[in-house]
Amino acid sequence: MSIPTRVRLIDVGPRDGLQNEKQPVPAAVKIELVRRLQAAGLREIEVTSYVSPKWVPQMADNHEVMAGITRQAGVRYSVLTPNLKGFEAALADRPDEIVVFGAASEAFSQKNINCSIAESIERFAPVVQAARAAGIAVRGAMSCTVGCPYEGDIAPEKVGYLAGLMKGIGVERVDVADTIGVGTPRKVQRAVEATLAHYHLDHVSGHFHDTYGQALANTLAALELGVWNFQSSVAGLGGCPYAKGATGNVASEDLVFMLHGMGIATGIDLDRLIDAGQFISEHLGRKPNSRVATAILNKRAG
Ligand code: HMG
Ligand code: MG
Repeated sequence: MSIPTRVRLIDVGPRDGLQNEKQPVPAAVKIELVRRLQAAGLREIEVTSYVSPKWVPQMADNHEVMAGITRQAGVRYSVLTPNLKGFEAALADRPDEIVVFGAASEAFSQKNINCSIAESIERFAPVVQAARAAGIAVRGAMSCTVGCPYEGDIAPEKVGYLAGLMKGIGVERVDVADTIGVGTPRKVQRAVEATLAHYHLDHVSGHFHDTYGQALANTLAALELGVWNFQSSVAGLGGCPYAKGATGNVASEDLVFMLHGMGIATGIDLDRLIDAGQFISEHLGRKPNSRVATAILNKRAG
C-alpha cells in the first residue's frame, strides 16, 4: 500500500475541542472559530452536538451556533446526534452530516451515552434511517478502539464487532477513535484493519487524541494502511468529559505540518490555521497546544 497523496481533515475543534471547557464559550466565539477554519481551507468541520445539556453544558448553544455560521459552498458541517431526540433537534439546523457515536468498550458506552453497545445500536438505527431519508450523510464514531479508561486494552475483535454493527444499520463511514490517546502505531493498525474488514478504505478515518504524544505516529501508521481521512482539533483543543484525564485531539497544525512535509496535499493554509488556533486560544486564555503553532508563533514574534 502506498501512502496517500492527499488527505482530508475534519476539524473537530468546535465540538470535541470545546465540549470539555468548563467556562462557557460564547456562541459568537464558536461561530468565529468556524469561520476562521473554513477560511483556512478546512472542507469538513464538526460544529456541535445535540446531546443532553445536563451531560455536556458547553454544547447547549447548538442551535445558536448552527444558525450563526455562514456556510461556504463545498464545506461539510457535521454534528453529533446520539438518539432521535438529538437528531430531531439537529434536523431543524440542516447539518450536512450527522454522527452517531458508539464505543468498542461496554464500560465506556455506559459512561458516555448511558447504555450498552447493543442498546446504542438500537438507538442509532432509527437515527441513521431518518438521516438518510432526509438526504443527510451519516458517520459513526467508534470510541476506545485501542484502550478504554475503564476496561484497559481493547482487542481488535471488539472494534471489528462494532464496525460490523455500524455497517449493519447503514452508517456510511466510521472513525477509528483513540479516545484516551493510549494507542501506539501497531495497535492502531490492528484497530484500523479490523474496521477495514467492514468498511472501504475511503470510508474509514482516524481520530487520535494526543494524550500520550502518540497521535502523529499513529496517523503515520494509519497512512501506511492507506487511510486518508483524519480528525484533528485546531490548537489541540479538547478532551472527552467521560474519559477522565484524556486531553485533546492531535493539533490540526501539527498534522498539517507533517502531511505537507511529506508532500501530501490537504488544501489547508497552515498560516491561516495557526491564526484560527491563536484566536481560540486567546479567548481561552492559554497558548495553543500545538508544537508547530508554538514554533511558528515564536518565529513570527522574532
Ligand atoms: P439518558 O439520560 O440515558 O437519556 O442520556 P434519556 O433518554 O433517559 O433522557 C434523560 C434526559 O435527557 C431527558 O430530559 C431527555 O429529554 C434528555 P429530562 O426529562 O430529564 O429533562 N435528552 C436529551 N436532551 C438533549 N438532547 C438529546 C437528549 N436525549 C435525551 N439528544 C444521552 C442519554 C445520550 C442523551 C446522554 O448520555 C448524553 O447526552 N450524553 C452525552 C455524551 C457526549 O456528548 N459525550 C461526548 C461526545 S462523544 C466523544 O467525545 C467521543 C468522540 O470524540 C470520539 C472519541 O474520541 O472517542 C466522538
Ligand atoms: Mg474525541
